[in-house]
Amino acid sequence: MNFNLTKEQLELQARIRAFAQKEVAPYAAQLDREAKFPADILKKLAAQGYLGMCISKEYNGLELDSISQCIVIEEISKACASTACCLAAHASIGTFALRNYGTSAQKQEYLPRLASGEMIACFSLTEPNAGSDAANIETTARKENSANTNDKNFSYLINGHKIFATNGRDADLITLAATVNPELKHKGVTLFLIEKNTQGLKIGKSADKLGLRATDNCELFFENAKVPSDNLIGNEGEGFKIIMQALDESRILIAAQAIGIAQQALDLSINHCKNRMQFGKNISEFQATQFKLADMTTVLEAARMLIYKAAALKDELANNKHGNAGKRFTKEAAQAKLFASELASKITTEAIQLHGGKGYLRDYPVERLMRDAKVTEIYEGTSEIQRLVIAREILRNQ
Ligand code: CAA
Repeated sequence: MNFNLTKEQLELQARIRAFAQKEVAPYAAQLDREAKFPADILKKLAAQGYLGMCISKEYNGLELDSISQCIVIEEISKACASTACCLAAHASIGTFALRNYGTSAQKQEYLPRLASGEMIACFSLTEPNAGSDAANIETTARKENSANTNDKNFSYLINGHKIFATNGRDADLITLAATVNPELKHKGVTLFLIEKNTQGLKIGKSADKLGLRATDNCELFFENAKVPSDNLIGNEGEGFKIIMQALDESRILIAAQAIGIAQQALDLSINHCKNRMQFGKNISEFQATQFKLADMTTVLEAARMLIYKAAALKDELANNKHGNAGKRFTKEAAQAKLFASELASKITTEAIQLHGGKGYLRDYPVERLMRDAKVTEIYEGTSEIQRLVIAREILRNQ
């Protein structure tokens, strides 16, 4: 594996870094304080094409390779993790099923509008009784006239309650997981495209969160929401495997988000330690400080390598479809997310320690970084679920 970024990736990194520092970073603290969805920043990101970074050029997307997608998310996360979360939820998990399993008509209808930012995407799986146990969803999708199933133009009636839907309040298009029969567990899970003006869809409360406060996570209520069968993605019962693949993809980006947050905490800490005088010298001259900085930077580099490895493997498998039938990057994605998210929590906590009393104040960004880091250990699969996935993969393959 080549560990150097390509010339194009380095150029992209410079471009997105400059954009993030100018257009995103100055607003991060206020967005966090006000828990305000970063609609204006997303419009600017859309103008640069980044909302379509995972969408193919055929549908007017940027079609970035997976390492480049990680670079984008890392740089935006350094500036504002909430904005990066909205972007990743839209670009990756929000469009995955449509990109990979949508019909040609569905893709033509929606992908160009999602790439341009005319539409914002949301992926909705989690429910009060289905978090880690994703197969336990209770939102049902019943054929409207079950007696008349030979009719191709039937509709489904969706009923249920979703929580934590990222971008839910502002989304124009929701990829929804429902079950055609709860008794079938994962074999009943089915995916639907739901437009925001669908009758019977109600937006509920937004979650009041510790971190990622500018990302909206809201409840969605479906009460006999009528959805035409044309909006089904894939076939009935295929949804669970599509969701697992979508999570494999998006977990790599959550890992990139985690190291963006951690890198920012480290950079701020280095700057602080080089300028903070105690006992007559900069605290960076104390070995206790140096050892902390050395450990922080080492694990961060290791995490970035795990992330790039997972991203490179993902593209390699996708580009060589036939030789790789059945091969997955599930383990590598889970490893990247597990390692990166746990170290992000540790590094941001250590950054507060290095900043001393100032680190604990809302006036300084490190406390926000610590709050933002924590959820990367929880969402899109907790660390416990990542360990379970990694263990299952190594036991399955050896
Ligand atoms: N790719 C393809 N297929 C997969 C797969 C993958 N990565 N993982 C599992 N499958 C297949 C299995 O092979 C199995 O197939 P068969 O029926 O043919 O045997 C099927 O899916 C069921 O798999 P499991 O038996 O492993 O299923 P399980 O019920 O034990 O659950 C789990 C596995 C890993 C725990 C899964 O439920 C999981 O990932 N849970 C965490 C859910 C999660 O991450 N939620 C976050 C939601 S999104 C979010 O947080 C925020 C947002 O808004 C964006």
